Amino acid sequence: MPDRLMVLYQKNPCYEIVFSASFDELWEELEKLGCADRQLCIVTDSKVDEYYGDTALKLLEGKCRRAFKYVFAEGEESKNLDTVKEIYKFLIEKGFERGDMLLALGGGVTGDITGYTAATYLRGIDYVQLPTSLLAQADSSIGGKTGVDFDGYKNMVGAFKMPRLVYVNLAALQTLGDRQYFSGFAEIMKHGLIKDTGFYEWLIENMYEICERDLDVLKEMLLRSCMIKKQVVEKDPTEQGDRALLNFGHTIGHAIEKAKNFELFHGECVALGAVAAAYISWKRELLSMEEYYEIRDMFVPFYLPISVDGIAPQEIVELTKSDKKMQGGKIKFVLLKKIGKAFIDSTVTEEEILAAVREIHFSEEDAHA
Ligand code: GLY
Repeated sequence: MPDRLMVLYQKNPCYEIVFSASFDELWEELEKLGCADRQLCIVTDSKVDEYYGDTALKLLEGKCRRAFKYVFAEGEESKNLDTVKEIYKFLIEKGFERGDMLLALGGGVTGDITGYTAATYLRGIDYVQLPTSLLAQADSSIGGKTGVDFDGYKNMVGAFKMPRLVYVNLAALQTLGDRQYFSGFAEIMKHGLIKDTGFYEWLIENMYEICERDLDVLKEMLLRSCMIKKQVVEKDPTEQGDRALLNFGHTIGHAIEKAKNFELFHGECVALGAVAAAYISWKRELLSMEEYYEIRDMFVPFYLPISVDGIAPQEIVELTKSDKKMQGGKIKFVLLKKIGKAFIDSTVTEEEILAAVREIHFSEEDAHA
């Protein structure tokens, strides 16, 4: 099995995704990018800093021109322009120039903030992704989407900016809390559902090893998942078309995330949104009833929710309208033609969305019925 994948941008080699079981080969990879002559700044959150901040900094110190670390408070609440501003100030203070580089060490929030800072500081400097969460390793570190939340809207301000390298340390997955680990798994399941029946079946066959975080199985899972993501983003890097397939489960998922005040993890909301989208696909007679129930129930052994309480279904419908995935006032909804084949549909009605949200809405009344 290879331990690296090259991602193309506009048909040219752009950056590699390197899979490793430690940070030991990181410097070797950075050296290839001319980092010995550069100033490097690791950007990380307070939680990841406790685990890997100093290890990563030590790997750079004495090898590059100067190495720094910037730590922000852990959590989605930090994913805003205020954090970006603080990083700009830090970089200015340290004399960061065009040729210097940022290293995003952490999960999706860190990658998005760091990438956006890199995209805008001095009109753009290089950055590298060092994803440590499953969600970041499988999804958000690849494809150059960067950005922050704005006024309660997720990823409302951002830019496409390709990283120079994605270095995946698989061992970092062992230190993740269960909830965070399985939340990331939702995006992997999504890749199978939208593009690859064989991969979806492989995930189910390897359920036990995935839950146990077996290193060899994790490597194969991530390689196959990243291969799907790579193919999608290479074909449509700036989401003019098919990249939107990756938003499967995200229209209703993002609305639930917001309605629940970010109390649920992103992947948990994606799982709920995926069940709702599969429900609409069944009701449109694209999927059979058996396929719908199979998809729904496949999230359960991976500790992902398939129903949610404390939401007002009509509010979720309203929130889907403010999502970014709109075109000409219509929601670009992702449905399934079959397991392993998704398509974009702009004709999904409010009534269909409402019925799907009611399907995943768990209320006390239902519990006592
Ligand atoms: N996470 C969806 C995308 O990268 O397009």
